[in-house]
Amino acid sequence: MSRRILVTSALPYANGPIHLGHMVEYIQTDIWVRYQRSCGHEVHYVCADDAHGTAIMLRAEQQGISPEALIAAVAAEHQRDFADFLVAFDHYHSTHSEENRHYSALIYERLKAAGHIRTRPVQQLFDPEKGLFLADRFIKGQCPKCHADDQYGDSCERCGATYAATELKNARSTISGATPVLRESEHYFFELPHFADMLATWTRQGALQSEVANKLGEWFASGLAAWDISRDAPYFGFEIPGAKGKYFYVWLDAPIGYMASFQALCTQQGIDFDDWWRADSSSELYHFIGKDIVYFHALFWPAMLEGAGFRKPSGVFAHGFLTVDGTKMSKSRGTFIKARTYLEHLPAEPLRYYFAGKLNAGIEDIDLNLEDFVARVNADLVGKVVNIASRCAGFINRSFAHTLATVAHPLLDAAVAAGDSIGQAYEKREYARAVREIMALADQANQYIDEHKPWALAKTNAQDERIAEICSIGIELFRQLMTYLAPILPQMATQVITFLRIGDLHWESRRRLLGRHVIADFQALMQRIEMKQVEAITEASRETLSPTPVVVAASRDEAILPTIGIDEFLAIDLRIARIVSASRVEGADKLLCLQLDLGDAGMRQVFAGVRQAYADPDALVGRLTLMVANLQPRKMKFGVSEGMVLAAGPGGEELYLLSPDSGARPGMRAR
Ligand code: 2FM
Ligand code: ZN
Repeated sequence: MSRRILVTSALPYANGPIHLGHMVEYIQTDIWVRYQRSCGHEVHYVCADDAHGTAIMLRAEQQGISPEALIAAVAAEHQRDFADFLVAFDHYHSTHSEENRHYSALIYERLKAAGHIRTRPVQQLFDPEKGLFLADRFIKGQCPKCHADDQYGDSCERCGATYAATELKNARSTISGATPVLRESEHYFFELPHFADMLATWTRQGALQSEVANKLGEWFASGLAAWDISRDAPYFGFEIPGAKGKYFYVWLDAPIGYMASFQALCTQQGIDFDDWWRADSSSELYHFIGKDIVYFHALFWPAMLEGAGFRKPSGVFAHGFLTVDGTKMSKSRGTFIKARTYLEHLPAEPLRYYFAGKLNAGIEDIDLNLEDFVARVNADLVGKVVNIASRCAGFINRSFAHTLATVAHPLLDAAVAAGDSIGQAYEKREYARAVREIMALADQANQYIDEHKPWALAKTNAQDERIAEICSIGIELFRQLMTYLAPILPQMATQVITFLRIGDLHWESRRRLLGRHVIADFQALMQRIEMKQVEAITEASRETLSPTPVVVAASRDEAILPTIGIDEFLAIDLRIARIVSASRVEGADKLLCLQLDLGDAGMRQVFAGVRQAYADPDALVGRLTLMVANLQPRKMKFGVSEGMVLAAGPGGEELYLLSPDSGARPGMRAR
């Protein structure tokens, strides 16, 4: 029976790039969606950028642009990354949209009318210089327990203590450096406890994984509290209707963004929104999320929906985090890998396959082991799957005019039958099992070909009909395998459709054998991947995401740093330098190698991360700039870097080398 399914992935924040940790979720969701589509169900997959909140407001301010300009730029980047990872959203929207404003206001008004909203004054730390209430992560100070410096406003990274930001000693705003003061303001609260009974039942009704339901049980036991849904101006978000200067907290309108994105799709395609969202809708609604945001999706969100008269999710599917080589992704090890950096070196499908092979329905973390990644992709996809087609197509095309023979074989029946179990594995998000079962079929297909040795028969008679039979069985099996792999490898599936001259690889089509059928020439379907490509990714990640040692890029996102004394300042030897030559560095797309003349102080070589900002390095030759001349030399892959040049700006193409006024000469000290 055909189902009607609406699927979402969590909305990424619009203030930073997509990285491989994010991609676990989008790939997991996309595979599930593609499987459901393959089965012929009506599926809509929507997502959006999560565009509101203080962090985005501040980042835009630091970049000297409007929040709207920032989120537009980030949205374009995000969508390019997703498209290149073959994530096929039906619609990608933004929480900063009219649809979202509409549904946020509607839900709020309904909750209010039903008595689920109340206000009360809240005392909170306030940055008197910025004129801003400070969330805990924007406050730092000394831990009240162990006195460690530089701890955030909610917990100590040194001793693990949790506390209120007001308990920090010598607290300061990380935005302005000012000492925060306590200030009171009226806040709006959503009465989550009104929904305690509903949630206690709903969380046990099968919409959640058992680990998640158990965790929620602990939260229930400690009692549900009303949820603060307002933030004071200045805030980038939606003003609360009837509450001047009060804005919806970003987490209030973020999940409503799922509805907003779907509404936009409905408008485009003439779908009946209410049919999918009314309280008794017969459609299904699934949210794929990370395990860190369960609280929002399994408590607040169903309660908001219930209170506003909408349907609740059919399932909230949480996944674990990504580790790389067994540990947390790390900028210094180069394992904090941006989606774009990966894509600059490798295609999406190997990673989609590797993640699929690791994913199951639980919430444990999954590990990307880089060596295993290379070995596994090459062994399974190139060595097993593609190999079947390339071996068999050669004989069919050379000796049998591209024409398959009509065949029957128990292996083909077994492969068709296996589709039921593999389909179940996809349905239950047990992709690792699906992959194991598919690869077991691939092994059987290869064994069959190895045992029947068409190449040996061809030595005696290239036209031997037995060759056509063996290779046709091989190709039929290959088509079954590709039907099963298509949700994971959509691009390869498209190529196979062309190669086999078939209409599609839908799940049920596996039951119909090709029979006597003409196929096209075989084209390489997937390249082996090499460890050196992976090394290039980690190398590039080290460069792009670690604080680069070779250029002082005026901070992209940091607040003013803690005060230093005059002695510390005087310890930095800042000199005027003349750029004598500037050249690109092979293998480092961010770096220029600068030869700098410091007059009497001699020459210096500096690798500066300004290449994207200065497309024509020659234009730099002759100009004066400022450098730190007494920085400890640093040995890099490309040579020794003997200092830093000073540049300002957020980075990438927007980086500006500093220049002295005219009259300054190389070697002069700045003070
Ligand atoms: O945790 C996050 O990255 C959030 N931006 C996810 C929001 S999901 C949904 F609620 F919008
Ligand atoms: Zn502490």
